[in-house]
Amino acid sequence: MHGAPGPPGGAGPHARGDTVEGRSKPGSWPGATSEGAAGEGAVIETAALTKRFGRQLAVDRLDLVVPRGSVFGFLGPNGSGKTTTIRMLMGLIEPTSGAARVLGQEMPRAGRRVLPRVGALIEGPALYGFLSGRDNLLRFDAADPTADPRTRAARVGAALERVGLTSAAGKKARAYSLGMKQRLGLAAALLRPRELLVLDEPTNGLDPQGMREIRALVRGLAAEGTTVFLSSHLLDEIEQVCTHAAVMAQGRLLTQGTVRELATSARARLAVTTPDTAEAVRVLKEHGVHDLTVTDDRVTGELPPGGPAADLADLNAALVRADVRVRSFGTERASLEDAFVALTGEGFDVAG
Ligand SMILES: Nc1ncnc2c1ncn2[C@@H]1O[C@H](COP(=O)(O)OP(=O)(O)O)[C@@H](O)[C@H]1O
Ligand SMILES: [Mg+2]
Repeated sequence: MHGAPGPPGGAGPHARGDTVEGRSKPGSWPGATSEGAAGEGAVIETAALTKRFGRQLAVDRLDLVVPRGSVFGFLGPNGSGKTTTIRMLMGLIEPTSGAARVLGQEMPRAGRRVLPRVGALIEGPALYGFLSGRDNLLRFDAADPTADPRTRAARVGAALERVGLTSAAGKKARAYSLGMKQRLGLAAALLRPRELLVLDEPTNGLDPQGMREIRALVRGLAAEGTTVFLSSHLLDEIEQVCTHAAVMAQGRLLTQGTVRELATSARARLAVTTPDTAEAVRVLKEHGVHDLTVTDDRVTGELPPGGPAADLADLNAALVRADVRVRSFGTERASLEDAFVALTGEGFDVAG
């Protein structure tokens, strides 16, 4: 994938925090007066983007900013409005109100100009089951009037290789597993160089090995300068592959920013492994640790605010003084899930 004007040197997926567009507050469109001010380098930008299906508010005044060069995770439980947002971004449905810009241009109006520069995989590609994987791709490529037929076979071969489908390329698509179909759809999106890839739940239906492969592929594409916008309901997936994330719940944007910022916005928790959980809870509570939970031989709790490392040493000493046998003691890095729970007061795993 070449020709994508990514950042020099490539803000790879692990250049976390290097391409920081600070966490953006819901705000107004940069507008004609300050062209690009808030959206400098943004490949996707929405302003109060809203979609209503009858009485159902699927997307509610969404202000999203996806920086160029990012691997952007669009995270939210099922039913939170991810696919609806993506369909609006790709011009497949009209917003009820609000606006969306993709690669700097208004969607859906500029679709004809914008979409050839965008690869998309949305809710399973339309495949012909009676054709092989390779023949499906040849068809997709042939449908692109700008694709040179003389280099078609090479393009298709490279795309198959890229998604790991070379050896299954001759099989009929109807014999493909869900994961293989997903990869074939991804291969179709990769037939041409793209500035932006929009992938709706790209690892849906994949086994852990398949998920790893897709993650590696996404990292590779990002390293080449392609901005990748991917939706997922899986927190750890976003943490593993994304530089940035936006968190959705019930059609609303809860927060967006770098993954690092989002995770550290939730306070770290103390975790103690001990056979003496009851006594440990008592001692920790005395020392200001709150929200204590016990699971088997593990006690976790939230540290009192402003507690530096010295407090941890004191806590450990207090446990030992109270004859609590400590097997392990430390703080857990706050995760995106903690951030989500802190923002919503509920667990992430709420099905829509
Ligand atoms: N075509 C539609 N007609 C009616 N309701 C819809 C339609 N598409 C989505 N919805 C509703 O909008 C909400 C958001 O759905 P969706 O965008 O698919 O969420 P996600 O992709 O995050 O799982 C859900 O409540 C869903 O039932
Ligand atoms: Mg969806």
